[in-house]
Amino acid sequence: MLLCVGGGIAAYKACETARLLVKAGAQVRAALTPAAQKFVSPLTFQALTGEHVATDLFSAEQELAAGHIALSDWAELALVAPATANLLARLRLGQADDVAAATLLAIEPRKWLLAPAMNEKMWASAAVQENLRILRERGARVVGPAVGEMAERTHVGPGRLAEPEVIAAAVEVLLGPHDFEGVPVLVTAGPTREAFDPVRFLSNPSSGRMGFALAEAARDRGAQVTLISGPTELPPVSGVKQVGVVSAEELAKAVDEHLDGVRVVVMAAAVADQRPADRAPQKIKKKEGEEVVRLVRTPDILAGLGARPQHPLLVGFAAETENLEENAREKLAKKNLDLIVANDAGAFGQEQSRVVILGKDGARAELSGSKLALAHAVWNMVRERLPR
Ligand code: C5P
Repeated sequence: MLLCVGGGIAAYKACETARLLVKAGAQVRAALTPAAQKFVSPLTFQALTGEHVATDLFSAEQELAAGHIALSDWAELALVAPATANLLARLRLGQADDVAAATLLAIEPRKWLLAPAMNEKMWASAAVQENLRILRERGARVVGPAVGEMAERTHVGPGRLAEPEVIAAAVEVLLGPHDFEGVPVLVTAGPTREAFDPVRFLSNPSSGRMGFALAEAARDRGAQVTLISGPTELPPVSGVKQVGVVSAEELAKAVDEHLDGVRVVVMAAAVADQRPADRAPQKIKKKEGEEVVRLVRTPDILAGLGARPQHPLLVGFAAETENLEENAREKLAKKNLDLIVANDAGAFGQEQSRVVILGKDGARAELSGSKLALAHAVWNMVRERLPR
């Protein structure tokens, strides 16, 4: 794999990352931008990887030894750590003015793993966010940034380079065995909205993050993913078939329409259990006094699937504010699920979460971490139960 190092203070952590990757069995070749060389020495990477280090696009000697195009043909994965604001901007524009950017541009974006690192205000800037969104849309994967103390010490926020162990784990997933190769899976995400009238609805604060992380993780493991999502603000997951819905009834219909051949259904959507009995065709006018709204049940999609004589492996979610495990265990049995992921309803919209995963076979795992890490844990448990 190729390790492209950008010019930021976090470049020192790229040294440790290189060491971990080599230790894990990867063959690593590094390319350093001129700015990176102001922070770390090419010699450091040469010593850690045992390979030549590319530092100069215009060095006849380096081009002769292993030209940057040969390097891009060779790489199975290109890790960019730290991916600085400058490097992200150049990758978006296709500006190949140093050996790292030129090599990267000759590699398909779906093989890029970007580990952004910069000051938290730079990270929050519209330019950086837009560049990253576009790079993701082109297929690039992203790890981090982490939240925490910046180099300046007085600054805290998102923008720290993900820890080397986290980056190495992300690399391992991308280069590791694709244990869901070609397996069709269906994931639902986000809230549903149940309309009273054309401008008002009943909903919940689900962000869709957990479902999107599940879709991303399954894609990275080779699955053929359909992601059905209620309204969210999240950017689309590249390489995943995405279907947008609004209400529980639309979600039920979409699940039904996309079920053909599906081996696993993960219902991470926070489906409204009830909807207003009547949907006024026009905006309801303000009235004096008390107003009573009648609610009726929406179809329980998951229970409906569990009741079918032949059904895919089923994974449900249980967001609870009390008696988390007890309630989840009850749902596991009642809906005839294979696994249930119980999480505290307080994790709605958060990046991190803490969950207990229960299996109908009695399995129990208590985990915490990023939603992406938890998503992989869910797929690990699914894989163990998926008939060959
Ligand atoms: O019963 P409860 O709504 O807590 O169950 C949560 C699980 O059931 C989630 O996996 C959710 O996606 C699913 N569900 C469903 N249809 C509903 C309500 C919930 O599939 N109408």
